[in-house]
Amino acid sequence: MKVAVIGANGQLGSDLVAAFSENGDAVSPLTHTDIEISELPSVSRVLEGIRPQVIVNTAAMHHVENCEREPEKAFAVNALGPRNLALVARDLDAVLLHVSTDYVFDGSKGSPYLEEDSPRPLNAYGITKLAGEHFVRATTAKHFVIRTSGLYGKSPCRAKGGLNFIELMLKLANERGEVRVVDNEVVSPTSTPELAQQMVRLSHSDCYGLYHATAEGSCSWYEFAREIFAITDTPVRLKVAAPDEFPAKVARPKYSVLENRGLKTRGLNAFKPWQDGLHKYLGNRIKSPSAQISS
Ligand SMILES: NC(=O)c1ccc[n+]([C@@H]2O[C@H](COP(=O)([O-])OP(=O)(O)OC[C@H]3O[C@@H](n4cnc5c(N)ncnc54)[C@H](OP(=O)(O)O)[C@@H]3O)[C@@H](O)[C@H]2O)c1
Repeated sequence: MKVAVIGANGQLGSDLVAAFSENGDAVSPLTHTDIEISELPSVSRVLEGIRPQVIVNTAAMHHVENCEREPEKAFAVNALGPRNLALVARDLDAVLLHVSTDYVFDGSKGSPYLEEDSPRPLNAYGITKLAGEHFVRATTAKHFVIRTSGLYGKSPCRAKGGLNFIELMLKLANERGEVRVVDNEVVSPTSTPELAQQMVRLSHSDCYGLYHATAEGSCSWYEFAREIFAITDTPVRLKVAAPDEFPAKVARPKYSVLENRGLKTRGLNAFKPWQDGLHKYLGNRIKSPSAQISS
């Protein structure tokens, strides 16, 4: 299949390019210099030139504080962007895989969110991403809207800059000997190679719709850090941070665990427990340490 991956040099996009290529697909990797998703003429020109059978969108404005400061720009990228892609995908009769987020929920449920749970985003990022989901679902039938959470991978997240959580923990442990981490935010840390494989699998199906797609199980950021240090045998004093030690500038869900109910119901769920993805990441890190250098 001809597959266009948008956000191809991003954290998830780079693993999607690898996963679709390994699957034997002809991949067009598109970066922000190739395409501007918030502008319909750019989206039409680029995609009509390629005429892919599958379009994969990872592009987003997802730095939460920046979205709050510039909500119109966030809406243009996170809502109108997917709408533009959906319009062109429909015209080309292509399948659209669009990546969304756990931040469409407010976190008050206290047990894993299902696809049919009512979203209630707490911030501009979540609101604009939810609008993007609605545009895709209302515009083109051949879509997969994929909500995921707590991504980490070999390539750094371009929107957030710096190191991913794992690299940050290991750096702080090395520099300070003591690390303090919050224990009151619960997530399902999900590795980007695993999500990319899941998305390749979905692209072979015609069970279109909305899917939750995260590693199995959940943990607080403190528990995630504890597992990182245990696997790497890092000598460090790990402490629970006081609730007000790292005050959030923007409201965020405290609990954003997603249940992959849709994938499981259709026999498509390929995710393993989050600890497996972490082991694999840390194993690869030892094999190729140069890959961890961040921008
Ligand atoms: N990271 C997480 O923990 C997380 C959690 C849940 C959901 N998600 C979702 O997962 C997706 C991928 O995240 P990621 O961590 O891989 O992001 P990332 O590393 O920041 O990659 C995003 C890519 O999209 C490109 N891009 C941004 N704005 C664009 C635009 N207007 N037009 C075209 N390209 C644009 C970026 O290019 P430039 O950098 O050059 O602008 C970059 O290549 C996003 O949709 C995000 O909402 C992420």
